[in-house]
Amino acid sequence: MRALLAGGAGYVGAHTAVALLEAGHDVVLLDDLSNASAAAADRVAKITGRSVPLVVGDAADDDVIAAVFDAHGPFDAIVHLAAFKAVGESTQKPLEYYDNNLNTTFALLRVGIARGIRSFLFSSTGTVYSDPADLPFTEESKTSVDLSNAYSKSKRMNEVVLEDVARVNPGLDVTVLRYFNPVGAHPSGLIGEDPKGIPNNLMPYVQRVAIGDLDRVGVFGTDYDTPDGTGLRDYIHVVDLAEGHVAALEKGAPGYAVYNLGTGEPVSVLQLVASFEEAVGREFRKEMLARRPGDVAATYCDPSKAERELGWKARLTIDDASRDAWKWQSQNPRGFEGD
Ligand code: WQD
Repeated sequence: MRALLAGGAGYVGAHTAVALLEAGHDVVLLDDLSNASAAAADRVAKITGRSVPLVVGDAADDDVIAAVFDAHGPFDAIVHLAAFKAVGESTQKPLEYYDNNLNTTFALLRVGIARGIRSFLFSSTGTVYSDPADLPFTEESKTSVDLSNAYSKSKRMNEVVLEDVARVNPGLDVTVLRYFNPVGAHPSGLIGEDPKGIPNNLMPYVQRVAIGDLDRVGVFGTDYDTPDGTGLRDYIHVVDLAEGHVAALEKGAPGYAVYNLGTGEPVSVLQLVASFEEAVGREFRKEMLARRPGDVAATYCDPSKAERELGWKARLTIDDASRDAWKWQSQNPRGFEGD
């Protein structure tokens, strides 16, 4: 199969490219490099020994997408990973988030359908689930557009659009993957999470404390109704997540289908930090702070539908993720910039 990965040079994109190539498929990456480095494509080629064309451009521009099809097509599938994804930033910049996260989908669908793609795989998020009483979340749990931030709202809006578009394009299989919390890095240490600036997310922040860039881990809230008082999340190793994309493309249901990609095993902030300290072999300074506005106490999924229908199940643990993230960060203290 030949797939166009929009946002393909990003954290999930690069790992998904590796997984697809290693499964014998061909990939072409399209990325505007707003939150990615061109070096990631070279690293993917190094890991796989395969050619990995990267086109730098805007996935919201029909002419850019058409030019990629002209130069590198035809494609059987589009994997849409091109989105702004910082929850906090999205509350400050809603227009930019709706503009980018929706117009990329519209343009990729217009050109992809016109050029006859058979599959459209969409990167969504477990934050579209709206009622904590439904935990662990299944694909039938309540969702809403009335969420706490423009990022999550834009993802739910995309899902609504995709379901309607799938309905009127019977030859197009649309699969939505709701990610929980992607963490970790490829075991080679050649690709990993490389956020620009100070990381918002926990594991990349801990990675930067581990290499001495940042001096302590701030624990956002110790008074949640959880076993150790800190927030619970479903951390999924990015290699497992990438393999979930391969399974969805190879075995996804016809028409419109939604799958949770998570481990189903909630892990707390303190447990994740302890796992990383174990991987590095020393303790980090930790500061117990107030809750972060907008955070929920717990979110994790029931991943059994993906196991049943795609034959996919997460197999790596938080300790695997800590080990691999530490290898990536220690080998690349300045991320891809070091290239
Ligand atoms: C995890 C836990 C924090 C940082 C976000 C997006 C979600 C998805 C993953 C795209 C929480 C705590 C964090 C820190 C901390 N992105 N924390 N100190 O907020 O669950 O999910 O990223 O799909 O859409 O919402 O991830 O890593 O920011 O937080 O204590 O410095 O770590 O309170 O309990 P989150 P996170």
